[in-house]
Amino acid sequence: PTPDTFAHALLAWFDVHGRKDLPWQRNRNAYRVWLSEVMLQQTQVRTVIPYFERFVAALPTLAGLASTEQDRVLALWSGLGYYSRARNLQRAAQICVEQHDGDLPRDIEALSALPGIGRSTAAAILAQAFGERHAILDGNVRRVLARWHGVRGWPGGSAAQRLLWQFADTHTPHERVADYTQAIMDLGATLCARSRPQCARCPVASGCVARREGLTAVLPEAKPK
Ligand code: ADE
Repeated sequence: PTPDTFAHALLAWFDVHGRKDLPWQRNRNAYRVWLSEVMLQQTQVRTVIPYFERFVAALPTLAGLASTEQDRVLALWSGLGYYSRARNLQRAAQICVEQHDGDLPRDIEALSALPGIGRSTAAAILAQAFGERHAILDGNVRRVLARWHGVRGWPGGSAAQRLLWQFADTHTPHERVADYTQAIMDLGATLCARSRPQCARCPVASGCVARREGLTAVLPEAKPK
């Protein structure tokens, strides 16, 4: 396999600057990774950390989450917002107990069929919990790739989506998938922010089309009205 320069540069950056001691990176298992990914869908890392710690202290296993009262789950979620995430989380845990021998399915189709787990979240869980090679494409990654490849138009459109998933897959390395997945999400959440991206510090700036063509303020383009 040919080393992808994008992945290679990103992993080198991750080795120096990446976060490697987050609570869900310790004692890593599918349940903890899943919980963290759902919390991180709409909430920043630094906000999530204390909620994650409290939640796993109270409900350390999927079986415990499945069988507890819904009010307890909502109380543990209280303050994080987007409460449908908590309800979906518990429903998914109950489905795992009823249909998947009490574990999260290790199959991307079955995993992404669970409530609250889209394609990208399923891929992030399999990559981080099991080191399986799957491309991810959440909002932050979409912005990184739209800029790097200079994808014009609204990146949520179906043609652009297809293209971006293809780019996401091409860049995903065969080694160190968990680190790569964390690295590209961190890049999107930090240096490649929506406004005022810090290209001077970006490990992949040299190959970035948006940077080269002065389009970082334009890409990704907004949804047409
Ligand atoms: N957003 C979703 N998953 C994330 C993760 N693992 N790290 C940082 N931001 C995220």
